Amino acid sequence: MDKLIIQGPAKLEGEVRVSRAKNAYLPILAAVLLSDKPVHLKNLPKLRDIKTMLALLERLGVEIKVKANVTTLCAKNLNSHLATYDLVKTMRASIFVLGPLLSRLGKARVSLPGGCAIGTRPIDIHLKNLEKMNAKIKIESGYVDASTKSLQGTRLPLSFPSVGATENLMMAATLAEGETTIENAALEPEIDDLANFLNSMGAKIKGIGSPSLTIQGIREFKEVEYEAIGDRIEAATYVMAGLMTQSSIKVSGFKTKHLDFVFECLKDMGGKLEVGDDYVQTTPCTLTACSIDTAPFPGFPTDLQAQIMALMTQAQGASLLSENIFENRFMHVPELQRLGAKISLKGPTAAIEGKTELSAAPVMCTDLRASAALVLAALVARGETHVQRVYHLDRGYESLELKLQKLGAKINRVKEEM
Ligand code: EPZ
Repeated sequence: MDKLIIQGPAKLEGEVRVSRAKNAYLPILAAVLLSDKPVHLKNLPKLRDIKTMLALLERLGVEIKVKANVTTLCAKNLNSHLATYDLVKTMRASIFVLGPLLSRLGKARVSLPGGCAIGTRPIDIHLKNLEKMNAKIKIESGYVDASTKSLQGTRLPLSFPSVGATENLMMAATLAEGETTIENAALEPEIDDLANFLNSMGAKIKGIGSPSLTIQGIREFKEVEYEAIGDRIEAATYVMAGLMTQSSIKVSGFKTKHLDFVFECLKDMGGKLEVGDDYVQTTPCTLTACSIDTAPFPGFPTDLQAQIMALMTQAQGASLLSENIFENRFMHVPELQRLGAKISLKGPTAAIEGKTELSAAPVMCTDLRASAALVLAALVARGETHVQRVYHLDRGYESLELKLQKLGAKINRVKEEM
């Protein structure tokens, strides 16, 4: 197991370019299962979750070739409809193969993802709506067994704008008979990216960017080359690193409109940001406390809750931060406290007192975004922080330590002694 050793406090300078978004590429990779034509994907990030999805696709019979920065996938000869527990348990996004397999093959057997560090994360919205599309679904021996003579387009009003359910249903509807309307669809930019990708393959999806998506089922796909959007969560993490360390850095390679509300919150906190179309420049400034609630897009993303909590430890005054999406997404709190953060928890709300001088300590990653928060805190903590279990970080931040090193941080990856 690897760990990161970070020497703080850090001063950063220069430019960091973010990778393509993991949460856009995971459903796009699953969507490859719909088509019998080659798909060329540019700049897939080298991340553990992406490798897991590629391994799953290979097991289903997808041919994969990598040449320079282009990964070519072809699902012409699918030979399995089974996503086994050993892969699904390591990555919940494996559930994305359910909709595409079902509509392409008329059957899918996918392991139930089970529990997760950040919450129970049921998949009832995925299953209930596939049933409305004429799928028969049984849960047996820890597996979702789904079958259909043919999926039928229909009206699907979602009880909650679930990102994963919207994506799964959109993919299923692309090969269904007739027209499907997903109402109360999630609005996250990764949904638009999947819809744009499907349309470039020949799909007929209208209403992109709105809560009502209309999908006309099709039969024929086209060969396509595609590159996903820049990773907005990675981008905001580096912007916060710049602000917390009182540094001037440029973060580029993403659409800043995907982070409008986040930048508004950071500016409310006194953050000095120059926001272009595809870059942000930070300037040293004094941060002040504020109150933030996580919410579906365009609200404040739950995937940045841990990182902004680390930032709030460096803001003058008492901040409040409420988590409204996942019921257990506060596992970073005791670890931040080990670094000296003054945080108290009451139900879904954390009160963070700042500004606090943080000091180095050994800390442990508990999930992907919690890990990023610990790295941010370690950048401002005095001394040498050892961040353990960084395999969580490797699921979603490509070359984090190399990117931070380039910005001047003293950060190194070492093998952890057992
Ligand atoms: C996606 O997860 C992201 N994952 C998550 O990213 C992100 O935190 C989340 O959206 C919210 O933005 C990927 O894109 C691969 P949801 P997803 O379905 O699709 C409840 C990261 O760190 N719900 O919108 O699983 C659910 O329990 C991660 O990169 C149901 O009740 O999120 C949760 O409380 C982790 N029933 C809420 O909805 C369902 O059938 C939001 O979940 C589905 C969801």
